[in-house]
Amino acid sequence: MSINTKSLDSIKSLAANDLNSMDEVIKERLFTKTDLIKAIANHIITSGGKRLRPILVILSCKLFNYQGQRHINLAAVVEFIHTATLLHDDVVDHSYLRRGYPTANKNWDNKSSILVGDFLFSQAFMLIAEDGDLNILEILSKASAIIAEGEVKQLSSISNLHITLQEYLEIITAKTAQLFAASCQTGAIIADVNQEIALSMHEFGLNLGIAFQIIDDILDYQADQMVIGKNIGDDFKEGKVTLPIILAYDASNQEEKEFWVRTINKLDQQNGDFSHALEIINKYNIMEECLAMANHFASKAKDNIAIVSESDIKNLLIDILNFSVDRNL
Ligand code: IPE
Ligand code: IPE
Ligand code: MG
Ligand code: MG
Repeated sequence: MSINTKSLDSIKSLAANDLNSMDEVIKERLFTKTDLIKAIANHIITSGGKRLRPILVILSCKLFNYQGQRHINLAAVVEFIHTATLLHDDVVDHSYLRRGYPTANKNWDNKSSILVGDFLFSQAFMLIAEDGDLNILEILSKASAIIAEGEVKQLSSISNLHITLQEYLEIITAKTAQLFAASCQTGAIIADVNQEIALSMHEFGLNLGIAFQIIDDILDYQADQMVIGKNIGDDFKEGKVTLPIILAYDASNQEEKEFWVRTINKLDQQNGDFSHALEIINKYNIMEECLAMANHFASKAKDNIAIVSESDIKNLLIDILNFSVDRNL
């Protein structure tokens, strides 16, 4: 996978003014007298992140010549929802590194992470209420409910080597792609597009989000920890059956299947198991297959915005799509 951070930086610089205004909103809304909230919320928010979802809100309204200011608060909303899910997700996944720093559950504890995640969710919904559009409320509340359900479904499928490709796609669509879809749809709707275009933007975000999560699942096996800012091998350690394992298990011979049953199904893992998992994955060219699947969804996303006329902003959205499948962070 080539290093493609430069393209993200250049996209970000083109949306810099709006992203800075969003950061002001985020800072304002994190102001509280409760020190623990201030500390944890600031820790996660100021440690950065790619800000992809707010960028999608911003570009999706600019795509249709939106001239107002609603996108600033709504960009903050999607970043708040995203960050809240990360605080909760790191507890569930026992993850100890995020955005290059120790996670909140590592630095503080699980209880604080969960409660501050709830605080961020609440801030998001207060901002939606201030925006005052029931249509947007419906989109973002539905997305939040589906994300939560996706995380629960994933939890229930831990260690299950018989999960199907279809079930995997349903999980990642729910836990990740829905927020990408809602971000694009929100931007389009505040720009007053018709329903057909709003739905195309939703589908664009959805397919982009699926491609993004497939790459994320590849990166959990082969990223550079310093670049991605997360621990590698967390999925394997947790017995999370993501695309690389689904395909590798399917391709495996009897002895290799027994290895997956011991490590993933029984969670009986020893030193060297992760390297052996990588050996099997490489033996069957599994990552190439995963990448091809990510590209398949990226190409569906391209079809989804074929309906929109050509413009510089549209090209930036395609740049984000290309970055999402060709990234190392
Ligand atoms: C992490 O999302 C959670 C997933 C959906 C894989 P990002 O990779 O967008 O996280 P940040 O915001 O850049 O840290
Ligand atoms: C994150 O999924 C999705 C949500 C936070 C809803 P993962 O658990 O796969 O992502 P990382 O690897 O922790 O970022
Ligand atoms: Mg996780
Ligand atoms: Mg998770």
